[in-house]
Amino acid sequence: MTDPNPYSSAALAEAAEQGIKIAGFLCNWCSYGGADTAGVCRFKQPTDLRIVRIPCTGRMDPLFVAKSLIYGVDGVLVSGCHPKDCHYAVGNLYARRRLEMLKSFLSFMGIDARRFHYTWVSASEGQRWQQVVTEFSEQIHRLGANPGVRKQPGENLKPVGGQKEAPIP
Ligand code: FES
Repeated sequence: MTDPNPYSSAALAEAAEQGIKIAGFLCNWCSYGGADTAGVCRFKQPTDLRIVRIPCTGRMDPLFVAKSLIYGVDGVLVSGCHPKDCHYAVGNLYARRRLEMLKSFLSFMGIDARRFHYTWVSASEGQRWQQVVTEFSEQIHRLGANPGVRKQPGENLKPVGGQKEAPIP
């Protein structure tokens, strides 16, 4: 991306041309509320995030992230309640284990791990949500379109950064 301002019309046009798509899996109780708070407070946010509301990050199957990155999107953001604030007590702790594990596997699947990020944002943290989503969006714009996206199941992945191509289960 050449324009440092991700909201300039040139940058947005470039993003649209690149077809940048980011998926955000947000816990219903905290981060979805945080995104809502940011919207209500009219904090400026990138427009290329598509939000999927989930009941808790404990519901996040790592395959949701892997398949999103393999079959269609350029980046995936997962956000939930802060540790000890999960409405189901430990859902986010299970999520943290699974998502950390996933992070270390992404490169073996031919996916740049920088395309995935998880974090915690509470319903009152509209400003933090704005910061998280802006930084992640900027990172994905810097990385550009996901070269690992396959149009059809069975289509081969392109290797990332000289790594060997890995088969997808
Ligand atoms: Fe939000 Fe569990 S309810 S992470």
